Amino acid sequence: MRSVRTATAALAVAALSLPLLAAAPHSEARHDRLRAAAPEGFFVGTAVAGGGHHLSQPYPDPFTSDKQYRKILARQFGSVSPENQMKWDFIHPERDRYDFAAADAIVAFAERNRQVVRGHTLLWHSQNPEWLEQGNFSKEQLRAILREHITTVVGRYAGRIQQWDVANEIFDDQGRLRTQDNIWIRELGPGVVADAFRWAHAADPRAKLFFNDYNVEGVNAKSNAYHTLVQDLLRQGVPVHGFSVQAHLSTRYGFPGDLESNLRRFDALGLETAVTELDVRMDVPEGGVPTAEQERTQAEYYRRTLAACLAVDGCDSFTIWGFTDKYSWVPVFFEGEGFANVMTDEFERKPAFYALLDTLKAARGR
Ligand code: G3I
Repeated sequence: MRSVRTATAALAVAALSLPLLAAAPHSEARHDRLRAAAPEGFFVGTAVAGGGHHLSQPYPDPFTSDKQYRKILARQFGSVSPENQMKWDFIHPERDRYDFAAADAIVAFAERNRQVVRGHTLLWHSQNPEWLEQGNFSKEQLRAILREHITTVVGRYAGRIQQWDVANEIFDDQGRLRTQDNIWIRELGPGVVADAFRWAHAADPRAKLFFNDYNVEGVNAKSNAYHTLVQDLLRQGVPVHGFSVQAHLSTRYGFPGDLESNLRRFDALGLETAVTELDVRMDVPEGGVPTAEQERTQAEYYRRTLAACLAVDGCDSFTIWGFTDKYSWVPVFFEGEGFANVMTDEFERKPAFYALLDTLKAARGR
């Protein structure tokens, strides 16, 4: 697979100079599908909308209720990531109760549609249930709780998850471990991170185990911290297999031009790399409709992110954080910003969609 990818990387670069196609009428023909356009062994994925911010929005659960959404989800993508449905607050709502219904439904859907699944996430400072954060547990209890959670959740889906985001966002932007807001690191010390990987590996030896974070697309204090930590863990024999960049980008801040070289330095450590949560938000213009120029800029960000991943041998997983603006987390979190996805609220394809499709086709060599 590596040699195929190396040969196709040049074609991906050649695609950079291709003009973006104008939006074509909505069509679901095979040659129009991201998953079919992808090179052999390269997975194009999306988050599966549900839980989190969706619970407070004026629509029913997208994954279970929106037929058009499900149809596009199945046809376009070769990989799916539960947006919230495998997080602690969702899957482990009480100390002695798990709720696997939503996660089970996503994994079953993926298997019916020959998709792989990225598990998200096991050790994080956010979206933890109150019973955990406010539980006043002893260190021994907390350690047992984390071990039991990882063993139970990873074990339930053993053999059915391609990649797990084991540790999510453990550093702040200055590259300091989150020793205050991450309950596990605060209470149990940094060594718990290695244990989380060990427990996950024991529960599913086939799953590839990742560190995942935002603001680590380029070479900076935070990505440097991961680079140092990963080498240390690999020296200790900890089963760490991958480093992934979320890539929640904004046209306000410019494109991280050193994305490819950053991925390459993790690749050089023997790790897999991945893009796991790409979206590209923009300022909502007066009148509320993005300009053609804004959409072109956005498409460029999508194209460049994909091209960087395609150019790195061990970057075989590329996931966007939802495909339609209809269900995006962005307007809920960032006032005055939005339109971050590759399809409109009505599932119309934007230039960003075609940027991905054309770049994949060029990389596949057809
Ligand atoms: O915790 C409160 C709860 O107390 C309250 O009852 C409920 C009412 O709606 O809101 C709860 O918080 C919500 C949280 O999900 C937990 O379910 C937030 O309002 C909601 O905004 C939040 O959204 C999710 C967010 O992660 C949380 O950080 C988004 O749906 C989800 O897209 C987003 O995804 C993250 C990735 O997992 C990691 N990387 C960044 C990415 C974007 O933030």
